[in-house]
Amino acid sequence: MTAQRNILVTSALPYANGPIHLGHLVEYIQTDIWARFQRLRGNHCYYVCADDAHGTPIMLRARQDGIEPEQLIAAVQKEHEADFADFLIAFDNYYTTHSDENRELSSGIYLKLRDAGHIATRTISQSYDPEAEMFLPDRFIKGTCPNCGAEDQYGDNCEVCGATYAPTELKNPVSAISGATPIEKDSEQYFFKLSDFADMLQKWMRDGHVQPEIANKLDEWFEEGLQDWDISRNAPYWGFEIPDAPGKYFYVWLDAPIGYMASFKNLCDREGIDFDAYWHSDSTTELHHFIGKDIARFHTLFWPAVLDGSGYRKPTAVYCHGFLTVNGQKMSKSRGTFIKARTYLDNLKPEYLRYYYAAKLSSGVDDIDLNLEDFMQRVNSDLVGKVVNIASRCAGFINKRFDNQLAAELPAAELYDELVSAGDAIAKEFENREYSKAVREIMALADKANVYIDDNKPWVLIKEEGREAQVQAICTQGINLFRVLMTYLKPILPETAQRSEDFLNSELTWDALAQPLLNHSINKFKPLMTRIEKEQIEAMVEQSTEHLEQTESESAATGPLADDPIAETIQFDDFARVDLRIAKIIKAEHVEGADKLLQLTLDIGGETRNVFAGIKSAYQPELLEGRLTVMVANLAPRKMRFGVSEGMVLAAGPGGKDLFILSPDDGAQPGMRVK
Ligand code: MSP
Ligand code: ZN
Repeated sequence: MTAQRNILVTSALPYANGPIHLGHLVEYIQTDIWARFQRLRGNHCYYVCADDAHGTPIMLRARQDGIEPEQLIAAVQKEHEADFADFLIAFDNYYTTHSDENRELSSGIYLKLRDAGHIATRTISQSYDPEAEMFLPDRFIKGTCPNCGAEDQYGDNCEVCGATYAPTELKNPVSAISGATPIEKDSEQYFFKLSDFADMLQKWMRDGHVQPEIANKLDEWFEEGLQDWDISRNAPYWGFEIPDAPGKYFYVWLDAPIGYMASFKNLCDREGIDFDAYWHSDSTTELHHFIGKDIARFHTLFWPAVLDGSGYRKPTAVYCHGFLTVNGQKMSKSRGTFIKARTYLDNLKPEYLRYYYAAKLSSGVDDIDLNLEDFMQRVNSDLVGKVVNIASRCAGFINKRFDNQLAAELPAAELYDELVSAGDAIAKEFENREYSKAVREIMALADKANVYIDDNKPWVLIKEEGREAQVQAICTQGINLFRVLMTYLKPILPETAQRSEDFLNSELTWDALAQPLLNHSINKFKPLMTRIEKEQIEAMVEQSTEHLEQTESESAATGPLADDPIAETIQFDDFARVDLRIAKIIKAEHVEGADKLLQLTLDIGGETRNVFAGIKSAYQPELLEGRLTVMVANLAPRKMRFGVSEGMVLAAGPGGKDLFILSPDDGAQPGMRVK
C-alpha cells in the first residue's frame, strides 16, 4: 500500500442569488466523485465548499425583494444545501463567505499583501449613478454600442458586433438600476500588483499544476501583460470593509476564494484538524480546486498570486471543466432545458445524472452534452440492464434455495481475478479524472459478467435433478462479480452502493476485493434501481419550460452567464453587421517576447491593417506572406501589450498546430466583401 495522502478538495462557490441548475452540477458531481474515490482508496480527503454571498448583484437582489442581504443569503444557502445533499454531494463542510472566519482571513491576507508592498492605490474615474448614489459595475450600465449602434447593450461589450469597450464609451448610457444617466466620478481604489508575481506564476504554471489547455490560455494572458487588479469597491457595497480604508470594500472576487480557506477553518475548529498543515505548507498535504473554465483567470492568476504574496501555499492543482449543453445547445428556458436541480429531483433519481455525467467527463475542458434521449438509454441499458441485473439474476436463488448462503468456492476464479486486476487501471482513470474511460472499462467488465451468467443459465439448471450445488456456485460467482463492479462504481453511485452493501452484508472497499465473499451469508435482495421512463423526462422538461415574458425577468434575476459570450443564435441582421473582407497578408513577423502571436500587416484593398493573431503555433511567418485570408474588418481596435490590433483574421481548428487560416480561391481580391 502506498502512503495515505492528505487531500483538501474544493468546488467553486455558487453565487447566493440563484438556484443550482444542472450546469452547476457538472462540477459538484465531478468533484464529489473524485473525493469519494480518494476516501474509498483509503486517503484522507476533505471536501469543502460554501455559498459566495457578496457583491452588487446580491445586494440589489435583496433590495428588490425588500429584505436584508443576510436574509437572502441565508435562504439561498438553505436551498443550495438541500439540493446538494439530495444529489448525494458529500461535503465535509458547506459554509458561507459572509462569515467571521472569512472576514479575518481576508483582512489578514490583505494586510500581509499591503505590508509586502503588493497593494497600490490610485484615483480612477468610474461610472456613477447620481440617483441611486452608487458606482455602477459595467454590467449595470446599458446603452448604444459605440461601434455598431446597437441599442440596449451592456457596459463592456456589444452582443451584436462583439466590440469591447469601456462603459464610458457607450452612447446614451443609462443606469440599469435607476434609469438615470451615469456621470463620471473620481475615487481612490486599491490595486493588487499582479505583475509582481509574473515569474512565480510562469514557473507555477510550468510545473504542471494546470491542464495543458489552461497553460496555453495563461500564455496568452502573460503576453497581453499582467495588469494591476482592482480589489476595492466603493460603498454602498455588500461585502467586507477594507480594514484600513473605511467606506471601501473588498471586491467579491477577493474574498470568494479565501472562502475556501474559511470553510475549511470552520471545519478545522470544529473537528480539531490542523489548518496550517493544509494552508501554510505543501509538504504533507495537497490542495485541489475544481472549477469551470469561465473562472480560470481568477484561480490560475489572481489566486496563486494572492496566496503566494501573503505567505500561504499554492494549489497542487486547479482543474477546469467545460460547460454543460443540453441536447447540443446552451441551456434554454424557452426550450425547457434550463433545468434546476430541484426540478430534476422532483422527477428523477440523482444517481442517473451522476452516472451520465461520469460517463461523459474527461480531464479536459471540453463542454459536455446532456442529451436527454441518450441519458435515458444509457442509464437504462448500463445500470439497470447490465450491472443491477447481475445481482437480480443470482440473488433470488441464493435467498430462496440456499438459505442466503454463498458457496465455498468460485467456479470461475480466473474471471473473478480478471475483474479484480482491472482495478488498478480503473483507479488510475478516476485519479486522473478520466471518468468516462473508467466507466467504459467497468461496463466492459459488466458485459463479461453477464456473458458468464448467460452461458451458465442457473434458471435452467435449477430445474434439473441434483444440480443444486452447481447453481449455488454459479450464483455465488455472479454475486461476487457484481460486488467487484459495485465497488468500482461506488464513488459514482453512493446510494446504490450502500444498498448493495446491505444486500451483500459486507462493506465495499477497494482492498477487500482481494478476497471473494465465500461461505458468507447475504441478505434479502431488494430491487436496487428502476428504469427511467420517458414520461419522467418529459415532465421535467415541461416543468422547466417558461414563457417568454417570464424568461426575461428571471434571467435578470439569476444573472447573465456573461462569461460565455457566444450567443445561442443570432439574427441575420447581426450577421450582416460583421464586415468580412478578403485580406492579403503583405507582411508576417514574429513579435518580440510573444510565444503565440504573429504580427500581420494586411491589405484590404488600398487600406492596410495591423493585426496580432495567435497563430504562431501553426504557421511560419514566411509562409504566410502573399497569402489571402478572411478578416473581420470592423472589429473595434483592441489595445494589446505589443500594440493595437485592428481586426481579426479568421482561423479554424482546435489550436496548437491544428489551426487553419482560410485561404480563398484564386480570383479573390483584397478588399472584397465576403458574404
Ligand atoms: N461565485 C463564483 C465562483 C467563486 S469560487 C471562489 C461563480 N459562481 S457560479 O454560481 O456562477 O458558478 C459556480 C460554478 O459552476 C463555476 O465553477 C461555474 O463554472 C460552474 N458552472 C456554472 N454554470 C455552468 C454550466 N452551465 N456548465 C458547467 N459548469 C457551470 O462562478
Ligand atoms: Zn456593437
